[in-house]
Amino acid sequence: MTRDEALQLIEGLNVSPNILKHLLANEAIMRTLAKKFEPEKVDDWGLAGLMHDADYEFTAKDPDKHPYMVAEKLKSLGVSTEIINAILGHANYTGVVRDTQMAKALFAGDNMAGLITACALVQPNKKLSSVSVESVLKKFKTKGFASGANRDEIITCVSELNIPLDEFAKICLESMQGISPELEL
Ligand SMILES: [Fe+2]
Repeated sequence: MTRDEALQLIEGLNVSPNILKHLLANEAIMRTLAKKFEPEKVDDWGLAGLMHDADYEFTAKDPDKHPYMVAEKLKSLGVSTEIINAILGHANYTGVVRDTQMAKALFAGDNMAGLITACALVQPNKKLSSVSVESVLKKFKTKGFASGANRDEIITCVSELNIPLDEFAKICLESMQGISPELEL
C-alpha cells in the first residue's frame, strides 16, 4: 500500500482533523525510529504509524471494534502481518503481543506524540518550535497534565526499545517539529 492509497483510505473513514494530525505525527515518529532500527523498512513503519488510529472515529459508537476494523481493512488490501500486528498491538486490550521493534515503537511513540502535542498547546504561541525536550520531560512527571498520554506506556521506550526517555522525547519532538505545518502546531 502506498502512502497516497493510505491517505485515501483515511479520507474515506471520515477521520477528524485532530486524529489526522495524530496519525501524521505518529507516521513521522515511526519513520525516524525505523531509520534507527530497520532502515530498510521505513515505509512500513511509517504506514503503521499513519494507519494505527485511522478507524478511531469510524468505530466511535462501537469502540470495541477499534483497531480491529482498520486492521481487517488493511489485511484485505494485502498489507503485511507485521504492520497489522503492530496496529493491533498498540491497543493493550487486543492482547496481540508486541514482538517486533515496529510494534514496540508504535506503542511508546503513540503516547509520546500525545504528550508532545499537549506540550505545544500550552505554549503561548501553541507551536512545537517553542517546546523543548526539558519541558516535555517536566510535563512527563507532572501528574494530571495530559493524563490521556499514558506515562507507563511511554516509558516502555527504555525497557522495550533501549532508548532513554530524554533521547526518546528528543526523537519524537524533532520528528513532529519536522512536519509542524501539517500538524498546524
Ligand atoms: Fe494513537
